[in-house]
Amino acid sequence: MSSDLNRAGMQADNMQHNSIRQNIFLIGFMGSGKSTVSGYLSRHYGMEMVEMDRVISEREGMSISKIFEVYGEEYFRNLETNLLLELQTKGNIVISCGGGTPMREKNVVEMKKNGCIVLLAASPETIYERVKDSHDRPLLENHMNVPYIAELMEKRREKYEAAADLVIETDGKDVSAICEELMAAV
Ligand code: S3P
Repeated sequence: MSSDLNRAGMQADNMQHNSIRQNIFLIGFMGSGKSTVSGYLSRHYGMEMVEMDRVISEREGMSISKIFEVYGEEYFRNLETNLLLELQTKGNIVISCGGGTPMREKNVVEMKKNGCIVLLAASPETIYERVKDSHDRPLLENHMNVPYIAELMEKRREKYEAAADLVIETDGKDVSAICEELMAAV
C-alpha cells in the first residue's frame, strides 16, 4: 500500500511542476473502466474529474435511460456535444466520456483542441462481466450478451481507434496499473 501511495504522491509532485497540462479524455466502450480510471486519477493524482453522463443526468434531472426514453438518442447526443464545448474553458482535468461520444466527428475535433484522447480497450467478455447487472445503459438493455457487445464494439472500432492518441489494453490489469501506464504516456 505505502509504495503505491508513494508512487502516486511522487506523480502528484511531478504534475505540479508540469502545471499547464492538457485535459485527458477517456473514451471506450461501455464498461471499459472510464469512470473507475477517472475516479482513481482524481484521488491519486489530484486531477479534477468530470463524468459526462453524471453531469448530463444531474442537469436533466433524470437517468440516462430516461433521457433516451423521453427525448430520444439525438437529444442526448446534442447534450454531449454541448458539454464538450463547455469544457473547452478548462485545463488539467480528466473527463470520462460516454461510450458513444467519439462517434461524432465534431466531438473528436473538440476533444483534440485541448486534450489527449485515451482509449481504454477491453474484450467483449470483460465488458459483459462488468456491465451485465447494469440497467442504465439503454443501448444494451435488451441485448445484454457477449455477441451483441462484440458486434457493436466492432462497428465502433474504427472511430474509437482513429480518435485515440493513446490506447491502453485493460484486460487483466487493475486500476492502479492502468493509471500508471496512462500517466507515464501522456
Ligand atoms: C453510451 C454509453 C453510456 C451512455 C449512454 C450511451 C454509448 O456511457 O453515455 O448510455 O453510446 O456507448 P458509458 O460508456 O459510461 O456506459
